Amino acid sequence: MTTVRLAASPDEVHEAYAVRSTVFVDEQQVPVELELDDADPTADHLVAVEADTVVGTGRLVVEPPGFEGTDPALGQVGHLGRLAVLPRARGNGLGVTLVRAIERRAGERGLRVMVLSAQTYAEGFYERLGYTAYGAVFDDAGIDHRWMRREL
Ligand SMILES: CC(C)(COP(=O)(O)OP(=O)(O)OC[C@H]1O[C@@H](n2cnc3c(N)ncnc32)[C@H](O)[C@@H]1OP(=O)(O)O)[C@@H](O)C(=O)NCCC(=O)NCCS
Repeated sequence: MTTVRLAASPDEVHEAYAVRSTVFVDEQQVPVELELDDADPTADHLVAVEADTVVGTGRLVVEPPGFEGTDPALGQVGHLGRLAVLPRARGNGLGVTLVRAIERRAGERGLRVMVLSAQTYAEGFYERLGYTAYGAVFDDAGIDHRWMRREL
């Protein structure tokens, strides 16, 4: 059985970083120095845990009103990112469950809108979850991305 929840300890956060490293650095060749960033120490890290092992993760960062073109009247903005599931655990609904858990966490923190910068190949994944792409395609770490948003 797999449980999706907030990381419960610093060790679990480091396990989440290890999953991100496997997926983004090893698999997608994102430069290692770009993978961890200044937002990590204060982000909420959600983890998918299977048999005491983290197999998936994603994070919530709280951004200021108006972030990336959102309506300032909606207040602070949830920024979903670093969504990663280990290859062996994919296709079992963990990606969707992690997104919904991050949205729930955002709701608990009083946020009303979520944005994310999607790799263009993953736009379809997020569209099915109610996100709408906007603005131009841009390069981040050598990969095409586009902003997407959803009101919660
Ligand atoms: C994207 C990712 C997190 C999805 O994780 P997952 O656990 O396999 O996702 P789920 O099992 O919840 O997938 C749910 C559905 O989305 C579909 N899906 C997965 N990736 C997709 C994509 N890139 N585009 C469109 N649909 C996709 C699945 O086929 C599945 O469809 P189904 O319900 O009809 O079978 C995972 O593939 C991953 O870690 N990829 C590498 C990192 C990455 O690209 N992260 C996103 C950065 S924006």
